[in-house]
Amino acid sequence: MDLKVNTHRHRSWAEPWRVKMVELLKMTTYEERKKALVEAGYNTFLLRSRDVYIDLLTDSGTSAMSDRQWAGMMLGDEAYAGSENFYHLEEAVKKYYGYKYLVPTHQGRGAEHIISKLLIKQGDHVPGNMYFTTTRLHQELAGGTFHDIIIDEAHDPENEHPFKGNVDLNKLDALVKEYGAHRIPYVSIATTVNMAGGQPISLANLRELREYTRKHGILIIHDMTRVAENAWFIKQREEGYAGKSVAEIVREICDLTDGATMSAKKDALVNIGGFLALNDPDLFDRARNMVVVYEGLHTYGGMAGRDMEAMAIGIGESVHDDHIRARVGQVEYLGNRLLAHDIPIVKPVGSHGVFIDAKKFLPTVSQDKFPAQALAAAIYLDSGIRTMERGIVSAGRNKKTGDHNYPKLELVRLTIPRRVYTQAHMDVVVESILEVYDQRSRIKGLKMVYEPKYLRFFQARFDSLS
Ligand code: F0G
Repeated sequence: MDLKVNTHRHRSWAEPWRVKMVELLKMTTYEERKKALVEAGYNTFLLRSRDVYIDLLTDSGTSAMSDRQWAGMMLGDEAYAGSENFYHLEEAVKKYYGYKYLVPTHQGRGAEHIISKLLIKQGDHVPGNMYFTTTRLHQELAGGTFHDIIIDEAHDPENEHPFKGNVDLNKLDALVKEYGAHRIPYVSIATTVNMAGGQPISLANLRELREYTRKHGILIIHDMTRVAENAWFIKQREEGYAGKSVAEIVREICDLTDGATMSAKKDALVNIGGFLALNDPDLFDRARNMVVVYEGLHTYGGMAGRDMEAMAIGIGESVHDDHIRARVGQVEYLGNRLLAHDIPIVKPVGSHGVFIDAKKFLPTVSQDKFPAQALAAAIYLDSGIRTMERGIVSAGRNKKTGDHNYPKLELVRLTIPRRVYTQAHMDVVVESILEVYDQRSRIKGLKMVYEPKYLRFFQARFDSLS
């Protein structure tokens, strides 16, 4: 028998795996959820996991590991120094990402801390394609000022630019003219851009940026937390890349940068871990010395041997086209179902989650009443689905004036863990959002009653205004 070869294009995004073990979840009542929400100060970060049904708080550390990764956990070499698993991880980072030197850290922010301290001097300026909370904080703590140089389109949820993670080189050039290239140690480039809604940067843009920064002696430090997802979008959207594998595109992205920070809790399919990867031997030497002060010896950096083994295996799995196609496919499925019901979300649908535009969802709640925070609370109350605020609470306060930063994007993030939930779970999410949308006139916003000094979104507490 002979059949015409069917390309993937005609098939559903269905997962290239099957389930071997399940984790039972508790279903809660409305009264139980109301009590839990009040106790959590209307902050979904302060809920107990046992009170959550579908957990879309984050895709960080929430992936399901494969049978191979679990098998790797049994191969943990827990020697204090020179663990075999470190060398496996180093090999995987070289093979799949191409960076020469590896400094392991307990998670992404450990790497951000080290690179910021090493490269930023008091009064320096760090441009980037939109801020990320922990990344910017470490840049500021090291004495730097962050500048957003992402294209304007990224701040408009309706704009369907295929690469909303791109850098506006004119914005960068203006900073270089104002402060001088010597006050800009590096450009901070994320693949994909979390706060913009999981939006990718194109290789064409990254190449132009490389050329510009080389001319001015400025480094590019790559936040590669979701690099494989970015590569998938390049394969789908950028001319000339349809025939390349995600693994090849990932290498091409990394090769255009000088070093990287990685939160392996996302793309790399592990529950904990991260690293700093570098190409310059002197910078590596300094980073390797600093890691022993803050994280642990340079062959474990805060991770157990078994964690490093699981990560080495996870990195290989994460760049498979079939894996990424299903991963992003599931997110797009959820996004497209919400769009079909005219729920206002960031377009195009991002790689790691669907971002609801809370300003449009709750047009009568002003931004100082924390509409996205209030909407996340309402969704939890309706169904036990936990989401996260990515708006004025996350944006924090202006360092100089002390006022709230008022970001253009006021979003609720429905973040999809990798290899965890089913299509039926996604359908329940749609049902709950539609229910809350019908009742949106009852949501009046929140009042902040407790505000911590750093990264306030994690621990702030609120009271309901309705
Ligand atoms: N960079 C990006 C783009 C991230 O999304 C995160 C974490 C980090 C750096 C920091 O890494 O958590 O391992 O220290 N993002 C999580 C989230 C917390 O929910 O988006 P970490």
